[in-house]
Amino acid sequence: MFSQRIERLSGSLIREILAAAQRPEVISFAGGLPASQCLPELDFSDMPQALAQYGTTEGEPELREAIAREAQKMGIACGADQVLILSGSQQALDLAAKLFVDPGTPLVTEGPTYLAALQVFNLFGASVHAVPQQQGSLDPADLAQALAEFKPRMTYLIPSFQNPSGACYDEATRAALAEVIDQAGVPLFEDDPYRALSYDGDAPAPLVSHLKKASWIYAGSFSKTLAPGLREGYLIATPDLYPYLVKLKQAADLHTNRVGQWFAARALNDAAYPAHIARLRATYRAGRDAMQASLEKHFADLADWQLPSGGLFFWLTLKQKRDTRSLLKLALEHDVAFMPGEPFYPVPEEGIGHLRLNFSHTPAHRIEEGIERLAGLIRNSQP
Ligand SMILES: Cc1ncc(COP(=O)(O)O)c(C=O)c1O
Repeated sequence: MFSQRIERLSGSLIREILAAAQRPEVISFAGGLPASQCLPELDFSDMPQALAQYGTTEGEPELREAIAREAQKMGIACGADQVLILSGSQQALDLAAKLFVDPGTPLVTEGPTYLAALQVFNLFGASVHAVPQQQGSLDPADLAQALAEFKPRMTYLIPSFQNPSGACYDEATRAALAEVIDQAGVPLFEDDPYRALSYDGDAPAPLVSHLKKASWIYAGSFSKTLAPGLREGYLIATPDLYPYLVKLKQAADLHTNRVGQWFAARALNDAAYPAHIARLRATYRAGRDAMQASLEKHFADLADWQLPSGGLFFWLTLKQKRDTRSLLKLALEHDVAFMPGEPFYPVPEEGIGHLRLNFSHTPAHRIEEGIERLAGLIRNSQP
């Protein structure tokens, strides 16, 4: 009755958990939601009536130009004609999978990696090989080995404040990874939705800015800096890939909603935008620091972790390995939620014993209560 790919369609555990964690009494560290007080006021009163009409697939020129300008400042040599506005940066994953993946196509990612990327890649039948991160980084020699062994059609990396691990690769590592990718001639998909959320200095220039030969797609988002409900994201791609991505976007939804594009362009071009980003950073830095203090107090004997220098998550490795999916059921019974680590690996059984904890959505004063409760559950229950 359905296409074969429907057999590979997996539900998103995040969505199921978010549904269960909606009850007001639950302290949820599960999702990746912005703080409600950081969301902008939705004022559309100045919006031109002409935006009621169909727009172009590539997106509104004003927004594409503003994005290209920002990308150039980051070190990406590109023009506005390489920018494609998307319905959330999640769409970049869908379009890239449609461009590169047939059933059985090898792809290389980090392990762990963004679980909704795995969901898309699996839907199209990819055979995903994850290169393990080591101490918050990715060893270029490990990537070189994986590219030689699996011969992927695309490599998918999140080098800045990764979801879920929080890892941010330093400049020398980026340059070395780029050299490996150039040598293998494998297209790179760099996913970069967290770049603006940096708490201890800016992230180094995007990995794609170091590439000399390989094709690339760079994806960015307004979900973390403006409002995820707008569903506004973008990709920038090398000219050999761009025309295919535009046609795939056209086939998917003609174009991204113009209302959100207008809102995003106005925000980006607003003189107050840097102050808005500075405010986000201050709010989330406070959440991060509150979580770090609570973890040091309650988790020192239970888990290892690194302080994330950006993004929205702590990534905990339990000292005593246990399946965190069953731990979640117990936690929900006690009104605290987190994201189990296993689904962030292509083979979940190879990723037993990690928790992802979000610090942007729970008010700082409730973070300790939730962390203490979670630690108590882990300490007092059987693995
Ligand atoms: C690594 C990564 N990529 C892409 C996305 C999708 O973001 P959006 O579609 O809201 O732009 C997310 C969202 O959390 C993410 O963490």
